[in-house]
Amino acid sequence: MSELASIGRVAVIGAGTMGNGIAQVCAQAGYTVAVCDVSEAVVAKAKAAVAGSLERMVAKAKLTGEQRDATLARLAWGVPLEAAVGDADVVIEAVPERMDLKLDTFRRIDAAAPAHALLGSNTSSLSITEIASALRDPTRLVGMHFFNPVPVMELLEIVRGLRTSDAHIERAQALAKRIGKTSIVVRDVAGFATSRLGVILGVEAMRMVESGVASAEDIDRAMELGYRHPMGPLKLTDLVGLDVRLAILDHLHRELGEQFRPPALLRQMVRAGKLGKKSGEGFYVWTDEKK
Ligand code: CAA
Repeated sequence: MSELASIGRVAVIGAGTMGNGIAQVCAQAGYTVAVCDVSEAVVAKAKAAVAGSLERMVAKAKLTGEQRDATLARLAWGVPLEAAVGDADVVIEAVPERMDLKLDTFRRIDAAAPAHALLGSNTSSLSITEIASALRDPTRLVGMHFFNPVPVMELLEIVRGLRTSDAHIERAQALAKRIGKTSIVVRDVAGFATSRLGVILGVEAMRMVESGVASAEDIDRAMELGYRHPMGPLKLTDLVGLDVRLAILDHLHRELGEQFRPPALLRQMVRAGKLGKKSGEGFYVWTDEKK
């Protein structure tokens, strides 16, 4: 196999918080990466976020200046979907968490991607089996659930849809290894392993704020100091995005029951545009990346 063929091409569809992190780690691992998004503004923001993240790594001596430049050179930004996936070996979709959007995106990917390409969906809770129904060959869709911030978090949760083949699970595991992640494989149940557990902590914390048990700051401090969580559940909700958490909760509530009913407070905050770090305010006020 030529060096170029062994290096491989990745297409990332959706350049939001997760998409740009996924593109970054793939480019750092030596893949040539094409990034696609419907919004030019999102692409511009993504490009700046990746440059900032790589700069941070250079400052901490985790990356050399040459490695940063080589990583940036492997990234192509704002490539139309059909062109991005046309010669890809791996396509990773990271569009917002809406089934209709995921299905539409995969219909287009299916029409344009080579037959050998491994297809991944970075969903945090939606059914991989259902998303795969958009494909002529559903065996090649694998759930690839990344964690925010993608360059830092070690886990890749791989989800096996009802028709995903072993061969494609193995390819996803190999990809995880190559981009420096540790993977786990879970069955396709709503919320998989991580969102189901992570979200229940967040939802209980919101209910506690709602009923005045303690302030958001004190609840977070309790879990950071008492349980050694790197970040309390409300700060984490701000990092993930309140709109993202609400979409996950709405889905888990429908699929798994009452314990996941979204708190009224969360819905109101999303309606008010308080989406967390990305909008500047959630349970905290954020300025320049700092709480
Ligand atoms: N790019 C590169 N490096 C980064 C980075 C980025 N975007 N963000 C943080 N870092 C690095 C920092 O440079 C720092 O490096 P050193 O250890 O060498 O100093 C390190 O990560 C820690 O960062 P900070 O010192 O700035 O701050 P911190 O110690 O508070 O860590 C954190 C920040 C990594 C975000 C940490 O608080 C954490 O792990 N929080 C929990 C995150 C989490 O649970 N994520 C999962 C969310 S759920 C999800 O994403 C899935 C979903 O489905 C929605």
